[in-house]
Amino acid sequence: MSVSQFQIDSHGNRSHTCGELRAEHAGQTVVLKGWVDTRRDLGGLIFVDLRDRYGITQIVFNPENHPDATKIAESLRFEFVITVRGTVMQREVAAKNADLPTASVEIAVEDIIILNTSDPLPFMVSVHEGKQSNASDDLRLKYRYLDLRRQELKENVLLRHRVYQAVRGFYDAEDFVEVETPVLMKSTPEGARDYLVPSRVHAGKFFALPQSPQTYKQILMVAGMDRYFQIVKCFRDEDLRADRQPEFTQIDVEMTFANEEMIYTTAEGMLANIWRQVKGTELDLPFPRMSYDDAVKKYGSDKPDLRFDMQLHDLSDAFNGCGFRVFDSVINEGGAVVGIVVPGEGDSGRGKLDKLDKDFVRGRLGAGGLFHFRLPSDGSEVLSSVKSDVLPTSYVQKAIDACGANQGDLVLVLAGPAPKVFHQVGDLRLKMGRDLNLISDSSDGPWKFLWVTDFPLLEYNEDEGRFFAMHHPFTSPHAEDMGMLGTDPGAVRAQAYDVVLNGSEIGGGSIRIHRADVQRQMFDALGIDEEEAQTRFGFLLDAFRFGAPPHGGIAFGLDRIVMLLAGASSLRDVIVFPKTQSAQEPMVQSPDVVDAHQLRDLHIQLITPDDHDDYDDE
Ligand code: AMO
Repeated sequence: MSVSQFQIDSHGNRSHTCGELRAEHAGQTVVLKGWVDTRRDLGGLIFVDLRDRYGITQIVFNPENHPDATKIAESLRFEFVITVRGTVMQREVAAKNADLPTASVEIAVEDIIILNTSDPLPFMVSVHEGKQSNASDDLRLKYRYLDLRRQELKENVLLRHRVYQAVRGFYDAEDFVEVETPVLMKSTPEGARDYLVPSRVHAGKFFALPQSPQTYKQILMVAGMDRYFQIVKCFRDEDLRADRQPEFTQIDVEMTFANEEMIYTTAEGMLANIWRQVKGTELDLPFPRMSYDDAVKKYGSDKPDLRFDMQLHDLSDAFNGCGFRVFDSVINEGGAVVGIVVPGEGDSGRGKLDKLDKDFVRGRLGAGGLFHFRLPSDGSEVLSSVKSDVLPTSYVQKAIDACGANQGDLVLVLAGPAPKVFHQVGDLRLKMGRDLNLISDSSDGPWKFLWVTDFPLLEYNEDEGRFFAMHHPFTSPHAEDMGMLGTDPGAVRAQAYDVVLNGSEIGGGSIRIHRADVQRQMFDALGIDEEEAQTRFGFLLDAFRFGAPPHGGIAFGLDRIVMLLAGASSLRDVIVFPKTQSAQEPMVQSPDVVDAHQLRDLHIQLITPDDHDDYDDE
């Protein structure tokens, strides 16, 4: 028969989904609709796995009973869309199908209609064959609708849906109101480049897509909304990584009369609700806390991965005055010698460590070089990467004692300016954790949550020679540090916090400045003058003049939370139509050119990349 012919679906509505039928339905006549996942011809019988969002049901065509239907079944190919009517038959559950909820039934098909055909596939979709498919990421993104039919991605979409519901259910029960804020707004200071939208009506003016709804949510507090939340798209034109998309989703929250404790408790409650509803897991509350300073000193990171230990040790005291030129000069210049103990690696060969030094420490981290001390498991003499006439054994022993290394351990050490060297050793720690399989990325946990608190308010940028807000300029300093804002801005601590899960920053927020005079001081520290403050944030400063209540909040990276829950390694696996590394969307092929009329309407004239240099000089 010709399948190109238009077929009317005379079967009516489906009676069940493809995931629904069980042994107790045996004998019933049913109508199922779905996609052909696989087809197998066996001794005249044709078996088809019929798939929809809900599952897979085996359907069988028997030429003796229903020759017409079987004839049509012969023409079925992968991903044809069909409707079948037939009788539910009980069957033995084969061991290979034991996991399939519908394994105890099959449908003896009496009638089939092909609703649509499919071209040969660019890659396999079938749950059976899909696992072996090695299609490139680009191909998968181009045919994203096929990729989304695959079990794994489909599960992630459903997981994400359940996360939305858990978030909304929690906040609704806690008196938070869900409010939408504008997407066409003006630049917000979250630190990345803005995506801009030209205005047709106002020549030469631009909207900016929000990097976050930060200022709107603060103004909603001034407006008396008391408790706000929103699941909201944010846009940041920044370098992309596995855990960064240009367009991502935040769970954005703000509370009036809030202090840090209130924010922590509510955030923990919300996250616990997600884990309870989505995973059936009770999280241990409250989450542990660590100051930013401790996080950097102990883990070399503001987002410590607590799934494994391997803490950093500042060995500067142990090596003080050791006579080894590299260590001495670093210590004298206020830098640090920092080490980690890698358990059970004391018998590592020299070649392996030289490679680690060359490829990772110098190559990737850009550090000066790796020093190591191997403590062989047989208890023989410590093997130092620095000869004993250059670095005396007594100092090496002091360092080994200071970091508590035992027989069979390996001590890895970097020396350099602080705090950079702590971050470098932190990265080395993560690499060792990964290489030694100390980190599990399973969707079953472990779930190591952590609050990182007391971030510095400001960060000095050497290149630009000025301070920047570490979080954003509306973050409140600690009351007791306020006095230092004019004298020692770098030392002022912020009432800012991040929530970290398994080494990933899944949220961040702060108690805000709510007084115009304090906000003014903050702008001064940031070198933002009166005029600039008025142009950029005049609306917020104005709002602060009309009884702005104390307030604070937090925003969570929803995509990152779903990624971790799914045990996925990239945000792409939990976003239906993600962007590539080069910020493109291969399916619809955006961004794209627009025609000359559209540009003219928007008062825009394009310059070629070559012309950029002329503009840069201006
Ligand atoms: P922040 O900039 O820390 O705070 O963002 C909050 C959380 O959003 C997630 N996130 C991202 N996820 C995916 N791709 C990105 N490019 C990306 N950038 C950030 C992270 C992060 O912790 N307005 C403040 C919040 C506040 O102060 O209330 C803000 O946006 O998980």
